[in-house]
Amino acid sequence: MALYVKAAEILEKAENKQAALKTLVYDSKFSNIKQLFALVCEAQKFSSVLEEIIGSTRLLKLTKLRLPLAKVLVYDLLLGRGLKCGGTWKAALLKNRSRLQAALARIKVRQGVSDNQDLIPASAQQRGDQLLPRYVRVNTLKTSVEDAVDYLKREGFMYQGRARTLDDLKLKGKTFVQDMHIPEILAFYPKKDFHDHFLYKAGHFILQDKASCLPAHVLDPPPGSVVLDACAAPGNKTSHLAALMKNKGRLLAFDLDAKRLSTMSTLLLRAGVTCHQLNHQDFLKVDPQAPEHREVEYILLDPSCSGSGMVCLREDSDTDEARLTSLASFQLKCLNHALSFPRLSRLVYSTCSVHRQENEDVVSACLQQNSLFRLVPVLPQWPERGLQPLSQCLRASPSSTRTHGFFVALLQRRTEADAEVTPEPTSVGASPSESPGTTSALKRAAESECEDSESEEAPEPETQDAQTTQQTEPSAQKKKRKRKRRKKNKTLEPACPSTH
Ligand SMILES: C[S@@+](CC[C@H](N)C(=O)[O-])C[C@H]1O[C@@H](n2cnc3c(N)ncnc32)[C@H](O)[C@@H]1O
Repeated sequence: MALYVKAAEILEKAENKQAALKTLVYDSKFSNIKQLFALVCEAQKFSSVLEEIIGSTRLLKLTKLRLPLAKVLVYDLLLGRGLKCGGTWKAALLKNRSRLQAALARIKVRQGVSDNQDLIPASAQQRGDQLLPRYVRVNTLKTSVEDAVDYLKREGFMYQGRARTLDDLKLKGKTFVQDMHIPEILAFYPKKDFHDHFLYKAGHFILQDKASCLPAHVLDPPPGSVVLDACAAPGNKTSHLAALMKNKGRLLAFDLDAKRLSTMSTLLLRAGVTCHQLNHQDFLKVDPQAPEHREVEYILLDPSCSGSGMVCLREDSDTDEARLTSLASFQLKCLNHALSFPRLSRLVYSTCSVHRQENEDVVSACLQQNSLFRLVPVLPQWPERGLQPLSQCLRASPSSTRTHGFFVALLQRRTEADAEVTPEPTSVGASPSESPGTTSALKRAAESECEDSESEEAPEPETQDAQTTQQTEPSAQKKKRKRKRRKKNKTLEPACPSTH
């Protein structure tokens, strides 16, 4: 209920041009910013169609709803993922459902379209260069890519093999391809909607942007390992980790938000994940030395961020410096905390933000404080790299990778061999001295409060050979290295002098 009340209020203000939609959503302090954003963005895109449906069915008269509230409810009922409320509104909408559906069908016939997305007026469509493929991650806990491809072919989809270039991801009609970077991803025509498809409902397909599959793909924990997902809900990356682990090992997932954890629980059940343990807990308060956490070897840290990489949120790209500073402070605290797990070997830090303050600056500041870890170059053929000098990291964007905006860094505990190599530069900025807006901003931020932007999920990569070479190694060798590292961790001296 609260979601629809807030969405209606914001939609009305945005349509009256009282303020930018993004500002209104952030100012609302709603608990699930991302969900609110998505609903208002979509309802606004379909606004004229919704108005026509509501007008022709005389819904306002029949239900006494106000127009903005009717719009968001009708959007979710007919075009979204179904009503997420109960009570009188749901009853009123369901009573009128067939009339509303008939009105929608009439508009589609009149406009000669079969896909709901084609009803969006050209002015509200995503810009051509931002029209992203519809990515689907095949859930390998339930099926294989081959079986999924065969199933789709039998349904009339046309498989074009494995993509080789970004242009191969420009798909039309029923054509689809396997992604060139992450093999369990299939890409479809941007407007393809799988929410009602059997493979989605049965948990064989996870609807996840390609960039958001990068963190688990890069971390690549082997089956049997002990993995921690620090800010896990609603859990798409957790389910990806479980798939890579083949449901073997321990996957500890933490999140502060009870509602999101409950959504996550449903998602994991549908995806057939069994190796996890959900914890409703502040990650910053998780004790790394506790017996149940001491064995953690892999951490995925995907903390709350500004969400500025999400294409839907980019219409208003003004940057609130205070907010970014506060987020960066929280992200840095999480990263520092994560690196304090005694047996940690590899960590992936990711955000769906395009701001350097939340990405390279955080990693850079953290590395200056944690000399036992180093950045590992990932996916060498991935086209967009972290801002200099952190080119080991990945960035993603609609124009260069045909995904939402994203950032991924892989940190690894140093080995003795690393210590012999000259440390690579990690400070972002033109000179060895502190660059403005980076480390100093983070120091300032350390005093401000943490903020939770509630980025949910929404929101790219080189050849498989390259990935395999850098992410997997023969297991015997891996075990040997692990044993060596464990032994060494007891006495390890910083490999390079810490600046703090
Ligand atoms: C970007 S979202 C995570 C998305 C998730 N990794 C996925 O792929 O579905 C950030 C999450 O961090 C959670 N969060 C924020 N502060 C936290 C904290 N101190 N400890 C644990 N979780 C936190 C939020 O509730 C939110 O669910």
